[in-house]
Amino acid sequence: MALERTLSIIKPDAVAKNVIGEIYSRFEKAGLKIVAAKMKHLSRKEAEGFYAVHRERPFFAPLVEFMISGPVIIQALEGENAVLKHRDLMGATNPKEAAPGTIRADFATSIDANAVHGSDAVETANVEIAYFFANTELCPR
Ligand code: TYD
Repeated sequence: MALERTLSIIKPDAVAKNVIGEIYSRFEKAGLKIVAAKMKHLSRKEAEGFYAVHRERPFFAPLVEFMISGPVIIQALEGENAVLKHRDLMGATNPKEAAPGTIRADFATSIDANAVHGSDAVETANVEIAYFFANTELCPR
């Protein structure tokens, strides 16, 4: 098993619902350690840059509007198979398809306001962690 790091974002809808602690608790119970964290109100430029891979998709503009609609909590999580473990905790992109007991099944309202983000691979995680955190902001490995 590999010790990995992944990027997690608690999106504006979940921050507004006041469930930050409940989501953190799920990370901790699953053995994921928070190795960096910050609350931030993303600028349009930051949100567009973060989701640049989806630039051509029809949902890009509403996604950016949603991501800048309120503060988010951004964290780097560390643990064995952290990327997949975190994706399993999150559940499917569309909360209607998310397995019972997942974060999205419990806290998301719709596919566009779906409570959390999580990196989809180790390589993406490295890029996404570096997008939001300087090396000095991360707990040393
Ligand atoms: P994606 O990377 O496909 O999903 P995930 O967040 O599960 O990795 O999409 C990024 C975000 O874009 C997704 O969390 C919500 C939004 N989105 C929509 O609003 N509509 C859609 O049809 C899709 C696929 C995504």
